[in-house]
Amino acid sequence: MPEQGKLRLAVLGCGMICQEHMQGFAELKNKVEIVAAVDQKEECRTEAHERWGIPENALFADWNTMLETIHPDAVDLCLPNYEHFPAAMAAISAGCHVFCEKPLGMNVNECERMIAAAEEKQRKLAVGFQQEYCPSTEILVNARNAGFFGELRFVHGSLIRRRGIPNWGTYYRRELGGGPVLDILVHLLDVITHVCGRPEPERLSASYFYGEGKQPCAVFCPTPDWNSRDYNVEDLAAVQIAFRNGLVLQLESSYVNQIREDCVYDFKLSGSKGGAWWRNGKAPELYTDAFGAMMNLTPAYLPSLGRPDMFRKKLDNWIQACLEETPLLLPGEIGLYIQRMLDAIARSAQENREIPL
Ligand SMILES: NC(=O)c1ccc[n+]([C@@H]2O[C@H](COP(=O)([O-])OP(=O)(O)OC[C@H]3O[C@@H](n4cnc5c(N)ncnc54)[C@H](O)[C@@H]3O)[C@@H](O)[C@H]2O)c1
Repeated sequence: MPEQGKLRLAVLGCGMICQEHMQGFAELKNKVEIVAAVDQKEECRTEAHERWGIPENALFADWNTMLETIHPDAVDLCLPNYEHFPAAMAAISAGCHVFCEKPLGMNVNECERMIAAAEEKQRKLAVGFQQEYCPSTEILVNARNAGFFGELRFVHGSLIRRRGIPNWGTYYRRELGGGPVLDILVHLLDVITHVCGRPEPERLSASYFYGEGKQPCAVFCPTPDWNSRDYNVEDLAAVQIAFRNGLVLQLESSYVNQIREDCVYDFKLSGSKGGAWWRNGKAPELYTDAFGAMMNLTPAYLPSLGRPDMFRKKLDNWIQACLEETPLLLPGEIGLYIQRMLDAIARSAQENREIPL
């Protein structure tokens, strides 16, 4: 029997990212109880049982049977992107709060319908970005709020891999929600717009580049065994977004790209009075003029910059909102704000023109 006052939660999709969620829930066990796990693959259900102690009679192969049998308070969606929408709609209509891994949906229409359904049922819908919870990000937000940057002018962000096509899941198929734009550029777009105060986008242009992913791997690399036969997503995307406040954002994102490093995940921000360099997993640097000199600032101490802390905090924010109506940092509306740009990026690349927003 679940303990009083805890959120009765079912996990949908017990693959790669679910393991990081389960670790977070284990650390939040005073607030949440995992009452069911759903996965179509038997080996994933077995792992949920053996690794995380989900009872065998709480394991399901499909979410509808689980919802009808268990009646959880909430669901955590760790499903492939194309299944976020149908699973969220089923769960909301069964009266559940929903935590949805990024991106919220496959397009704006799906996101709008998820948000409307959650609103109608008065359920909490959150989208699963996490860099907001990184201390480096918090410092840049504090700096912006204090006017450190002056007017925001230009940001250049990269989440580029040299050879990093996932060799699991559905990341190689566009119609299943794959490709570096939906999979990883989305993180950059989220963290940068968060730091910049979620400015209103005005117009956008994007180019996609194809080729290497469709070929079998011909070099030594960490994940050589991707599905090149069925690969139909971009290798590399280059994006420029102009915002109504004058900010210009350039983004690059790749699974395959001829660069020096295995992976670069960073952004450089410049404003009229100050600038900054944010790097995944590292302390930020801030730049300004002070005391007659060009000064570089770095924090002398930071708490953990690791993923487990960010994941625990993002799940905790949503659990707390479900239990006590506290504010969500990343409600569905943020997922929609990001998705408007994602849809326009895909359209711009396809139609080879600038898209007004
Ligand atoms: N926030 C992050 O940093 C981060 C990182 C990686 C992945 N993700 C997101 O997490 C989600 C899952 O990604 P993943 O890498 O864990 O994928 P995955 O393929 O490893 O896991 C998905 C699981 O869902 C199961 N599944 C698929 N369809 C199902 C269905 N109809 N019924 C029951 N089970 C079904 C699959 O069997 C699989 O085990 C994606 O939305 C992805 O974008 C987020």
